[in-house]
Amino acid sequence: MTVKNKVLHILESNKGKYISGQNLADLLLVSRTAIWKAIKSLKDEGYPISSAANKGYILSPDSDLLSSEGIRLHLREEFKTIPISFYKSIESTNSEAKLIAVQQAEHGTVIVAEEQTKGRGRFGRDFFSPADSGIYMSIIIKPELNIENSVLVTTAAAVAVCRAIEKLTYQVAKIKWVNDIFVNDKKVCGILTEAVTNFESGMMDSVIVGIGINVKTKKEVFPVELQTTAGSILSHKDNSIRNQLAAEIINNLLIISKNLEERKFLEEYKERSMILNEHILYSKDNQWHKGYAIDIDEYGGLVIFTADKQKITLNSGEVSIRKK
Ligand code: BTN
Repeated sequence: MTVKNKVLHILESNKGKYISGQNLADLLLVSRTAIWKAIKSLKDEGYPISSAANKGYILSPDSDLLSSEGIRLHLREEFKTIPISFYKSIESTNSEAKLIAVQQAEHGTVIVAEEQTKGRGRFGRDFFSPADSGIYMSIIIKPELNIENSVLVTTAAAVAVCRAIEKLTYQVAKIKWVNDIFVNDKKVCGILTEAVTNFESGMMDSVIVGIGINVKTKKEVFPVELQTTAGSILSHKDNSIRNQLAAEIINNLLIISKNLEERKFLEEYKERSMILNEHILYSKDNQWHKGYAIDIDEYGGLVIFTADKQKITLNSGEVSIRKK
């Protein structure tokens, strides 16, 4: 870890408290000049650090810049050493994660960005990913599952995100099959899972779980076509939970991933579902159909009663609630 990252780690751990330059130098076994340079470079990156004579340096309690160090601070002890790469701006964290997954990245590796310039959603759509207000991250999971169980990873990720949102914001988080997270009837998070498959064994080598959350994106910042459906989990005045929220999601997902095949999280997924026992529209073969959502099966598939009274299971696709 560089001196700059070590200084950031200490300031993040003592957010809102002064720590003297001498103290930092002693803790890190470097000169005061090295500390000064690290602080300057952090300030240049936009960290709200101020200094006062005889007191030292302080990271503002309102600081909300995402960083590997800020996230790592809130990880459970068992996950403290996972590789986390942070980008101020990147085309897509999922595209980057796919590249490094092929190069044998380890289970739990995280790619996180402050902004995406080509964020990808499901069905080839774009994912709106502006700077300073969201979390865009991809987590590489090595689940030892065959392909038919792949939806389980997506459903597990949805539960992991909901638990984290509720823990940090005390708001109820719901899931619209298969992977959209809603708070106060607005979509606040989308999840795009992409598998890297080993064709010889038929097993998934890794799954890239891409999570995009609107944490404090202002309504008027969303593109017009999203303004009625998309929302944020916090008002833009609320601050400084992004690192903790990212860490909480990683903690939850890595814990659930230990026992994916036991499927214990599926009960919670069903309880959080917005569409079970509702009249819905579902897409199949490029057409919309009427149906009634009755269950989520053991593979995360959606069980539906169709308009002509057939029971079918969808393993991918889109649904929306039908207003009566
Ligand atoms: C959707 O709602 O259709 C899924 C959106 C997934 C967006 C996330 S943001 C991080 C990761 N990188 C991407 O390019 N996409 C996913």
